[in-house]
Amino acid sequence: MYIAASLDGYIATEDDSLEWLFKTEGEGDNGYSDFYNTVDTILIGRRTYDWIIEVEKGNFPYKDKECYVFSNSQKGKNENVEFVNKDVVEFTNELKRRNGENIWLVGGGNLLHSFIKERLVDEFIVTVAPTLIGSGIPLFNKTDFELELRLKSIRQFNQFAELHYEVK
Ligand SMILES: NC(=O)c1ccc[n+]([C@@H]2O[C@H](COP(=O)([O-])OP(=O)(O)OC[C@H]3O[C@@H](n4cnc5c(N)ncnc54)[C@H](OP(=O)(O)O)[C@@H]3O)[C@@H](O)[C@H]2O)c1
Repeated sequence: MYIAASLDGYIATEDDSLEWLFKTEGEGDNGYSDFYNTVDTILIGRRTYDWIIEVEKGNFPYKDKECYVFSNSQKGKNENVEFVNKDVVEFTNELKRRNGENIWLVGGGNLLHSFIKERLVDEFIVTVAPTLIGSGIPLFNKTDFELELRLKSIRQFNQFAELHYEVK
């Protein structure tokens, strides 16, 4: 998982705005290209996919990767993505068995929850913006278990703090 969040743990406002994120002063691309180059497969929630299509005005940003959009309402594929509504455990374990590079779980919160509940996430990279947005779409939803992590690194990109954890 590689995602940006506000200090109070939201990934977007309730009306899907990321203005608080875009106005934060970072440094270069805040490590994004280095991360992106480690990835060959991308998993996206349907609402995040719709958001990307709207904001990028049809210019899909992950054309060079194998992209799956999780959805129970959409099926099939287009030139950029394949829609999937398979069991996340079976689907992900099948992907992980294949030789390849990293799998990026893009989000949003709803899809992340499906993965965290099943303990499918190996690493968490959260880029924290110095803003309390007060309410919105939470990065983490409630679970009935604890997940212990190990801090691998902390990097500062001007006003952003990137926290990189792996699951113990
Ligand atoms: N800050 C960041 O870095 C960042 C990153 C990513 C997203 N975001 C923001 O997050 C917001 C969207 O997040 P969200 O939590 O509302 O939605 P989301 O996780 O992007 O998408 C939710 C949808 O994904 C599908 N889905 C989720 N789990 C599934 C499963 N196990 N099997 C099949 N389909 C599944 C369902 O689609 P159907 O309804 O089609 O069934 C569900 O309605 C947007 O505002 C986006 O901009 C921010």
